[in-house]
Amino acid sequence: MTLDTPVAPEAPLDDQITIQQLTLDPYTVYKRLRAEAPVLRVKAVGRTLLTKASDTKYVKDNPALFSSNDPNTPMQRAFRAHTLMRKDGAEHAAERGAMAPAFTARNIKQCWEPIYTQIAEDYVSRLPRGETVDLFPALAGPFAARCLTHLLGIPEASDDDMQRWSQILIDGAGNFGWADALFAQCDAANDEMDTLFAAASERLRADPDQSALSVMVNAEDPIPTSQIYSNIKIAIGGGINEPRDALLTILYGLMINPDQFAAVKRDALWADAFEEGVRWVAPIQVSSRLVTEDTEIRGFHIPKGDTVMTIQASANHDEDIYEDGHLYNVFRPKLPHQAFGNGPHFCQGTHVARRMLANIMLPLLCDRFPNMTLPDPAAVQFYGFGFRGPRSLPVTLN
Ligand code: HEM
Repeated sequence: MTLDTPVAPEAPLDDQITIQQLTLDPYTVYKRLRAEAPVLRVKAVGRTLLTKASDTKYVKDNPALFSSNDPNTPMQRAFRAHTLMRKDGAEHAAERGAMAPAFTARNIKQCWEPIYTQIAEDYVSRLPRGETVDLFPALAGPFAARCLTHLLGIPEASDDDMQRWSQILIDGAGNFGWADALFAQCDAANDEMDTLFAAASERLRADPDQSALSVMVNAEDPIPTSQIYSNIKIAIGGGINEPRDALLTILYGLMINPDQFAAVKRDALWADAFEEGVRWVAPIQVSSRLVTEDTEIRGFHIPKGDTVMTIQASANHDEDIYEDGHLYNVFRPKLPHQAFGNGPHFCQGTHVARRMLANIMLPLLCDRFPNMTLPDPAAVQFYGFGFRGPRSLPVTLN
């Protein structure tokens, strides 16, 4: 830098915003930040928050400048592995590619759709007609878990174990206080998973199928076993909460907008209902990237070593793109959203999630219970800063 090079100012620093606010009512905060401070260092989070859609996309599309390889997160400790979500370049591509054959359009149609349809039939048929039921534990969680066991090649895992492991891995990856007790839970869950994966790998070597574990262990040049296991763990940590929360969010959005719900059922607008639901309340609200070189965003100096947090939840409500983005509206013009991320780490399960909810679960559930209602909309509370969805969804099934 020469003496006459103007130095961009640091981004403003906020010491008022709390994690609790971002957990309970994030959208009010993000709306203000988009208008007043779209690049803001937030003390409570220890990161620079980016709330405008063009900035969040720019960061995720530029992995050389904004790396996923952030060594300061507890994820590595929680997973007992450096996972593909925290890798860049060729290393990331190799591990993502190892799992990719399980996610092809052909496999989704030929393998997973028939299995998922059967699971949906089974799980919807056990719901009691005429009663008010919380669809979180009664349907959304178990359905997401059971579908995932098949995709991953571990159908011997129970729905309860899958949901428990998923939550423990998520809690561990978010254990920024480095609490020993939480990591001890992670260790116990990792032991259970590793034992199960070893037995399942043996079975799949003898009798291969299209599942993620099978394609990885039977590959001509397999990635190391430790990485095969960590890929499966990433999918467990990242493949249950999101479809579960998306399903509950979409149903809530439809039930508080009966005119939209009627149109969706009449014209089979399930894909629109799905896309609008994940835009409205993104199941994964934020992601972090490590800055590899001094740079600037919106005229602010972003130093090497800083961690920026892309708030895709906020990007999906950005006034530059959406009118009344805070409202669920299946009729809004189709515009790209960022709920599945951008760039090399774009969600690997996007098409699986669309298929399981938009093509299978939503139409089936609404066919079986065409007059389902939400007896007390005010009782439904959305919760979460990193991941977000309704804490419960009591629905009267008719
Ligand atoms: C509505 C449902 C879902 C949403 C909204 C969602 C969202 C996301 C987002 C935003 C990311 C990127 C995170 C980042 O950039 O750091 C991601 C990554 C990922 N998702 Fe999903 N996801 C969903 C369902 C699933 C499912 C069903 C699976 C099944 C296995 C899955 C597997 C993955 C994997 C493996 C990654 C890591 C990809 C990589 O790092 O290359 N997701 N997801």
